[in-house]
Amino acid sequence: MSLTVLTSASGAPGVTTTALGLAMSWPRPVLLIDADPAGGSPILAGWFHGRPPHHRGLLDLAMAHAYGDLRTAIQDVVIPVPDTQVTLVSGVRSPTHAPAVAALWPELARVLVGLDRTGPDVIVDAGRLGASQAPQPILEAADAVLLACRSTLPAISTARGWARDLHDRFSAVGGGHHLGLLVIGPGRPFGTAEVKGALGVPVLGALPWDVRTAQAIHLGEASRRLTHGPLARALRPTAEAIASFAAGNRARLASASVSGDRAPELADDQAGRR
Ligand SMILES: Nc1ncnc2c1ncn2[C@@H]1O[C@H](COP(=O)(O)OP(=O)(O)OP(=O)(O)O)[C@@H](O)[C@H]1O
Ligand SMILES: [Mg+2]
Repeated sequence: MSLTVLTSASGAPGVTTTALGLAMSWPRPVLLIDADPAGGSPILAGWFHGRPPHHRGLLDLAMAHAYGDLRTAIQDVVIPVPDTQVTLVSGVRSPTHAPAVAALWPELARVLVGLDRTGPDVIVDAGRLGASQAPQPILEAADAVLLACRSTLPAISTARGWARDLHDRFSAVGGGHHLGLLVIGPGRPFGTAEVKGALGVPVLGALPWDVRTAQAIHLGEASRRLTHGPLARALRPTAEAIASFAAGNRARLASASVSGDRAPELADDQAGRR
């Protein structure tokens, strides 16, 4: 398995929509975790049209962390996304629940990186950087962190400071190589190369602007099928490229850990992965 996190600096660039779209296009079974402390469970409300009762999710994992076995509890709270290889851990219903899950992040990060090598990959919607109770430990434990950004000047300007901050923080614990950009709507107006140049971070994916497909994912369609628009066509190859990038980083971490060439914190995490 590998752990991929999607996050943003500001302005709702499309993290949740893209996380679900990538998960449904992922080349392997995938566990999608809504870890956005802003709450509201947008995937249950959107893709699922609010139909599944919101009686299990991240809050239950916080309880399991306090009183039970977190690893087992994950299997108990997942909601299968029909006709896909995706299972979902829904997020907190309201931001008032966020403090209850904040204590969960370090242990959840350890459990996720320690999941069975043959188990599903994990994609986490981490919401916006800088939010209080943001799941920072999961970002630090990830094999790939995707900073989603639109291509407008205000979006680039906000993301720029956060990209530097993330890179510095990851570098301090022996990481940084796993951070990349996910450009949503390149060419509106700036191109991928310009966004990359301004942010100084590699581009791991660029997904076209396609309101119809994005709304189909964001709000859920009656048919529950993705349309054949540009975004639908781009999701599969983008998911494959990101899955491969994350798996490569995972393998590199494993060999660095074996040779003892890691910062202690990450080496400890890695020990749990085997
Ligand atoms: N590739 C795309 N093309 C067009 N619209 C998109 C695209 N991706 C997402 N959107 C639209 O952007 C809006 C915001 O999407 P979403 O809720 O996923 O953003 P977010 O980054 O998760 O926001 P928040 O930070 O508030 O959680 C939605 O209306 C969605 O349909
Ligand atoms: Mg979101």
